[in-house]
Amino acid sequence: MSKPFYIIGFMGTGKSSLAPFLKQNGKVDDLDEIIESRIKMDIATYFKQSGEEAFRDHESKALKETDGDFILTGGGVVERSVNMEWMQRHGTVVHLSLPFEDCWERIKDSERPLVRQGKAAVESLYRRRLSLYEQADVRVDASRPPREVAQYIIQLKEEEHGLD
Ligand code: S3P
Repeated sequence: MSKPFYIIGFMGTGKSSLAPFLKQNGKVDDLDEIIESRIKMDIATYFKQSGEEAFRDHESKALKETDGDFILTGGGVVERSVNMEWMQRHGTVVHLSLPFEDCWERIKDSERPLVRQGKAAVESLYRRRLSLYEQADVRVDASRPPREVAQYIIQLKEEEHGLD
């Protein structure tokens, strides 16, 4: 069986918008969706109620339980090095790369809990996480339309499968 592709990247890089296209080529697991169905509330409410660390515990647990071909992660999955180690050991890690200003335009009006801290704080989070995202096996330019980004990822996966 081919190994999963883990899609990582900052908030707003378009991870979730790849789902409809990737779904045509395999099982897609979206970590945030899995977590929300478990905690039975949205992530913003859970952050307020239980804090970020509790959310990160759910995230690490859900990551280990995935069995999809494509795993869409939340932007903070890289916050715990054990998560990156897990992804690298079990599959291929793909980094969706997009400049901060583009991410910010896409997320600034969203309900994401970390966005409420304001632009300067989110930008420093972006800068801090860059070196973590760069540990990925592959970097993909996320400024292209989601269909094209997804097609590129599918092609990479097919090529890798051919090497199995
Ligand atoms: C987070 C990103 C969110 C979600 C949570 C925390 C982060 O996912 O997991 O709000 O720490 O960057 P998206 O990257 O899909 O927005």
